[in-house]
Amino acid sequence: MELRAWAIHILSADRLEDKLLTPEILTDDQPGSAILWQEPTRPPGMHFQRHSRHEKLPPLHEHVDPDKRAICLHRFAGHELLAVEIMAFALLAFPDAPKHFRRGVANTLREEQGHVRLYLQRLEPMGLHLEDLPHYRHFWAYTPFMNSPLRYVSVMSLTFENANLDFAPIYGSSFAQHGDAESATLMQQILKDEIRHVSFGWQWLRRIREPEQTLWSAWTDNLPPRMSPSRAKSNKTFFEEHRRLAGIPDDWIHQLKHS
Ligand SMILES: [Fe+2]
Ligand SMILES: [Fe+2]
Repeated sequence: MELRAWAIHILSADRLEDKLLTPEILTDDQPGSAILWQEPTRPPGMHFQRHSRHEKLPPLHEHVDPDKRAICLHRFAGHELLAVEIMAFALLAFPDAPKHFRRGVANTLREEQGHVRLYLQRLEPMGLHLEDLPHYRHFWAYTPFMNSPLRYVSVMSLTFENANLDFAPIYGSSFAQHGDAESATLMQQILKDEIRHVSFGWQWLRRIREPEQTLWSAWTDNLPPRMSPSRAKSNKTFFEEHRRLAGIPDDWIHQLKHS
């Protein structure tokens, strides 16, 4: 299947199994002309809802309650599904990007589909389904801004996925502390993969920035006007080591830590 056809299939799917379709062989011979996909089709019960006060994730001290842990896992699963869609968006928006870049986005997309499946497997015995709680537009609010590969890696890989290098281990260790080893193991797997996804963004930031730009300003100049660099981390615990594993140098990590 061509990457373009795959991306269209994902974004126009009204069944979850179609959003999670992973063809064995993917080709990229006809990327076509750019499509700026406006709004993904969503399966029943997974349409975007307005933000509400219910949006707040249960705080760590409530993780003793398995239902509260399930709410967290549901939200994270929702983020993974959004990531699947945003990566499909990128494949359609940047047909002229280097083949190697497109291949990397496709590989990441495949792993995000795997993440959705992992969360579904964990949610099932907890009695929660993806359609049981609201879904939010979140990353889709930024697609009009993501009009270049550089902006895509800045927003998606180096901000949202970067923040997960804190959130995945923070929630993972809280789940472990409350005796939920399975959810903790799941978060470890997510962290491992997200380190690679951030690394992908970092490598391309280095490659496609304007040569006179520093790596810090190449990133911050390609964030939406109201998006602060602090969105790329938790304000509770900052895991320097996870950024190092993604190949980011210490001076950049230091600047992020203090931003
Ligand atoms: Fe993910
Ligand atoms: Fe990711």
